[in-house]
Amino acid sequence: MSNQEDCYILAIETSCDETSAAVVKNGNDVLSNLIVSQIEIHKAFGGVVPEVASRKHVESITLMIEQALEEANVTPERLSAIAVTEGPGLVGALLVGIMAAKSVAFAWNKPLIGTHHIAGHIYANQLVEEIVYPAVALVVSGGHTELVLMEQEGKFSWLGRTRDDAVGEAYDKVARALSFPYPGGPYVDALAKESKEAEKLPRAWLEPDSYDFSFSGLKSAVLNLVNQHKMRGETGYEAAIARGFQESVVEVLVEKAIRAVKETGAKQLLLCGGVAANRGLREELTKRTETEGIALVIPPFKYCTDNAAMIGAAAYLKWKRGQFSSLDLKGEPSFSLEAWSV
Ligand code: KG4
Ligand code: ZN
Repeated sequence: MSNQEDCYILAIETSCDETSAAVVKNGNDVLSNLIVSQIEIHKAFGGVVPEVASRKHVESITLMIEQALEEANVTPERLSAIAVTEGPGLVGALLVGIMAAKSVAFAWNKPLIGTHHIAGHIYANQLVEEIVYPAVALVVSGGHTELVLMEQEGKFSWLGRTRDDAVGEAYDKVARALSFPYPGGPYVDALAKESKEAEKLPRAWLEPDSYDFSFSGLKSAVLNLVNQHKMRGETGYEAAIARGFQESVVEVLVEKAIRAVKETGAKQLLLCGGVAANRGLREELTKRTETEGIALVIPPFKYCTDNAAMIGAAAYLKWKRGQFSSLDLKGEPSFSLEAWSV
């Protein structure tokens, strides 16, 4: 059923190495969500090459927008707004999506909504379940590791953040030391499952009341251990290291997230970002939240990694309040989530 009040947002995401366009109805109904990943291209370099990413976004974006509308069976006239990731991300990559969004917003005379990438990751949860407030989100991706409190819909405040490496970044660096291709998180996750033994590795709890994270010490400990084994010409040590590393990461993430929920009285814990695909993290968080009686929401994998549907879900918060962006919108590589609050 469609009526005059229905909101159709065309959303565009190009902040890193996925080009994506989606049409989302009323903030939670995904009518289309097309994603082209550049992973195969960047693999050869062992990480994302910004200039290459921008060029690839340029090649795909127009076709993606056309296909997203076609698949959703929505005409440009029917659209309520155009949403685009404003930041954070790679500036050149962001600009490709922003230029495309501005062009169609101008041509079709539709409002533009600059959208925060992490707000998108968090509101990916809204695509599967109604968010109940106050809620705490654990954001774990290649570029971010954050605990965010939402007292109300669209009001974001940081409880804690990583002081150095993001958790996905630490996974990718450990994976590289163990000779896995980029992005290596899933390989380390799979290898950790193969071992009964776990290397004893440090946990960075930081100050007793801190919700911040630090993974660089753990990463260095792993790299040292790998080098020692290599120098001794040993083999077969990898799985115990992967398991020890994963146990350390998961224990710290889970403990801090559970404490945040208890101390803030949050009604839900939302997990999001690419590392939400990690089996060790999902299992431990599921087990602990069940024991503690905490409601846990985890989006399906397709909404955990970068995608435009999540941008459409977050942009709906601004659309409902008539908060639109001007056509001189710029890319914001280090965009503040708190400042994006409605
Ligand atoms: O959210 P995302 O797609 O991109 C960013 O916005 O960063 O996250 C990608 C990150 C990569 O670092 C990748 O290695 C990690 O998520 N990742 C995993 C797993 N699947 C993806 N890390 C650990 N275990 C996994 N199963
Ligand atoms: Zn992301």
